[in-house]
Amino acid sequence: MTEIISLQDGLLADIARTDTLDEVEALRVGALGKSGVVTALLKTLGAMTPDERKAKGPAIHALRESVTAALAARKAALEQAALDSRLASERIDMTLPADMPPQGSVHPVSQVMDELAEIFADLGFSVATGPEIEDDWRNFTALNIPETHPARAMHDTFYFPDRDVEGRAMLLRTHTSPVQVRTMMGGEPPFRIIAPGRVYRSDSDATHTPMFHQVEGLVIDKGIHLGHLKWTLETFLKAFFEREDIVLRLRPSYFPFTEPSVEVDVGYTLEKGQRIIGGSGDAENGGWMEVLGSGMVHPNVIRNCGLDPDEWQGFAFGTGVDRLAMLKYGMNDLRAFFDGDLRWLRHYGFSALDVPTLSGGVGA
Ligand code: PHE
Repeated sequence: MTEIISLQDGLLADIARTDTLDEVEALRVGALGKSGVVTALLKTLGAMTPDERKAKGPAIHALRESVTAALAARKAALEQAALDSRLASERIDMTLPADMPPQGSVHPVSQVMDELAEIFADLGFSVATGPEIEDDWRNFTALNIPETHPARAMHDTFYFPDRDVEGRAMLLRTHTSPVQVRTMMGGEPPFRIIAPGRVYRSDSDATHTPMFHQVEGLVIDKGIHLGHLKWTLETFLKAFFEREDIVLRLRPSYFPFTEPSVEVDVGYTLEKGQRIIGGSGDAENGGWMEVLGSGMVHPNVIRNCGLDPDEWQGFAFGTGVDRLAMLKYGMNDLRAFFDGDLRWLRHYGFSALDVPTLSGGVGA
């Protein structure tokens, strides 16, 4: 019995003296490992008579328990000490003055989205959003693009392998137009919204990236006609490009979700070989640039969204935010928008304090 007690005292003293986790581990192996001293004692229990076992068993088990507990406690203490010393040595002084001014800038896409929100807020529009992962009903079907419609193929859609719980195919939205559907189904008309956000198409070159940004506009009310659309777009483009001499050209076009559909060009003037938005677009020293797709919301879309097209009409438009930024601020490669190159961001980015306001100017 005294052997067991002195073995225990010795082991506990050894454990208390350890300085490293490796030493703790070595002691654990020496005591409780396969051929450890405590393990060997436990093995002797099997060969004892019942009386011997009754006498010595509790002491041997108590030995194993106290050694196990002492090892665990020592290990935890050493780990805590290691953490404490690391925390002490890695301390940083938060009261030191910064030796560098705050870095970073507002990306032109964010800036243009803020400009759009500001301009349209003044016209009574609020900002609506929708998810980038959409279902094919909202992205296509509800927008009058049925399953077999060729426009589906035109969109170079990224599909997910699985369908949602309702059995709808899931995809990365190819345009912001599903927000039209979400808006009409999620509230009571009239509606006046813009919806800026990311969209995705499997396409890549100097003017196309697989992810880009669009802004959608939607007005649903009573007695809305093409004149309202034209005035709204003209007012918007004048405010955005900060010029009064913005001339629009509306061309008949086709989108499944608008009827009639109009593509909107804006006149530009050549100044030192650069295309500057503004002016009449005459061929002498300028031309026309397509900036928007738009039209009167198709009655089928209004009906699909649960409204009566005899009662409610409206217009919608959509355009690329990145493209608007390029036209306004003069970048020529869309891919650079998403490279994260600090030199590009320093050159084209905006100060965080340069918040666009109509009173202060939505420009730079
Ligand atoms: N969704 C169309 C596109 O991505 C743009 C558009 C929006 C056209 C609304 C008409 C009305 O090309």
